[in-house]
Amino acid sequence: MAVNQEVYTLETAQSETVKSTDRILDFDLSAELNHGVVVSNLAYAVAVEMGLDEEFCYQMAIAGMLHDIGKLKLTGYINGQERDPLLIEELKYVRMHSSLGYEELKDQGYSDIVLQSILYHHENYDGSGYPSNLSENSIPLGARILRVCDVYAALSSDRPYRKAFDVSTVIELMIDEIKNFDMEVFLAFQRVVHNNE
Ligand SMILES: [Fe+2]
Repeated sequence: MAVNQEVYTLETAQSETVKSTDRILDFDLSAELNHGVVVSNLAYAVAVEMGLDEEFCYQMAIAGMLHDIGKLKLTGYINGQERDPLLIEELKYVRMHSSLGYEELKDQGYSDIVLQSILYHHENYDGSGYPSNLSENSIPLGARILRVCDVYAALSSDRPYRKAFDVSTVIELMIDEIKNFDMEVFLAFQRVVHNNE
């Protein structure tokens, strides 16, 4: 999800006794659902702000709600593996969640907009994301919208290991990582957040 979350995980991997699946894969369903609702509302609003057609905006609302559904698969997947105590290994599995979500939904009647948005919601605009290192406009527009909204929602809510950042701090942190985002999407997102203040 957010860059900071991964940084935290790597740091703690070196400093804490590993009880790894408990921490990375500790799945708080209500928090995940709440995150989905926030991303859904924000992605819809950003799509409207960008002047995209109504149907696309609704598809973004659906994609926002479902974007992390692949995380539900992770615990079962890892339980089936030879247990590896290194958190870094488990991060590798966490990075599978966008592909797992896509696989889970692809035969369930969702639109290509929803499916592609979910599959690529961790791609970065500069090509440094996953699963396919897509860059710029080769990343589907819906995924570029989710990327921005997902990071914002993650940083602006409480996590087990830190409190929520305030809005201006979140925006600053995101500007520091602006290479990850489509600028047109980011500017529309900023207008939406500003209008909500
Ligand atoms: Fe995600």
